[in-house]
Amino acid sequence: MSLAIIAFASLLTISLLSTPSTSSLESFIFGGCSQLKYISGSPYESNVNSLLTSLVNSATLTNYNNFTIQSPSSSQDTLYGLFQCRGDLSNGDCARCVASAVSQLGTLCIDSCGGALQLDGCFVKYDNISFLGVEDKTVVLKKCGPSIGYESDSLTRRDALLGYLGASDGSYKPYRVGGSGDIYGVAQCVQDLSANECQDCLSDAIGRLKTDCGPAASGDLFLAKCYVRFSERGAHSHGGNDNNNDDEIEKTLAILVGLIAGVALLIVFLSFLRKVCEKGKGGK
Ligand SMILES: *[C@@H]1O[C@H](CO)[C@@H](O)[C@H](O)[C@H]1NC(C)=O
Ligand SMILES: *[C@@H]1O[C@H](CO)[C@@H](O)[C@H](O)[C@H]1NC(C)=O
Repeated sequence: MSLAIIAFASLLTISLLSTPSTSSLESFIFGGCSQLKYISGSPYESNVNSLLTSLVNSATLTNYNNFTIQSPSSSQDTLYGLFQCRGDLSNGDCARCVASAVSQLGTLCIDSCGGALQLDGCFVKYDNISFLGVEDKTVVLKKCGPSIGYESDSLTRRDALLGYLGASDGSYKPYRVGGSGDIYGVAQCVQDLSANECQDCLSDAIGRLKTDCGPAASGDLFLAKCYVRFSERGAHSHGGNDNNNDDEIEKTLAILVGLIAGVALLIVFLSFLRKVCEKGKGGK
């Protein structure tokens, strides 16, 4: 029985310790699969596998790339794919995020001709319908936080922030971050768009977020090729600013794990003592 407890305690330790470091970048935002399915074991399947492998490998070197896998046998099997990491990620974090996205896509979109997945830190998409370089402003996900009221200073700061994120100086700025007071925001377009398309997509996203969410304290709007997110600092994992939070969680977990291990040891020790006592009694 005590062995089982030790095994359980160490399992718990492993699962608890492995979660905090992966939590924010690899947390799921949305995913979808095309309804068309390919035949398992077909050349299509091996094209999907080689495309996804290319994405994972490429993510160790760069934060955006696209691939086209031509199939010599049939044009229906030509596959297109891309990944993009949030602009502030290191190559290591980007690679980890894309690897996680690809493995999640594998379970989410089994045998699907196409799929897309957005995690907090990265986006991955593949399909046999060409979408590379195509501006697509379909709303994929919209989330509005609680209202802060039309009369508040926070709203003025929020609008200033959104104005800043949406502003164009004519240069190509696919990744934008900003903060004003306690409000923090991030916007990004997928880098297969041209500078004009990127600007158009972001302006649209920001405009829609403002009209659809009203005076919200936080909001997320993901269009097919760009997104904008804002929230109060620390309320959300927008990268970079939530490390204190993670540290706290890690500390709490460490204490918890220590407690569990302590209790397990105590139980082992007590049952050992009992055995020794019983032996002692039996010996008399
Ligand atoms: C994508 O692949 C599926 C399955 O092989 C096929 O039915 C469909 O026509 C293909 N689409 C295009 C645009 O090639
Ligand atoms: C796709 O990648 C190639 C080479 O990496 C690059 O030259 C091209 O501009 C990219 N196309 C798009 C639409 O991003």
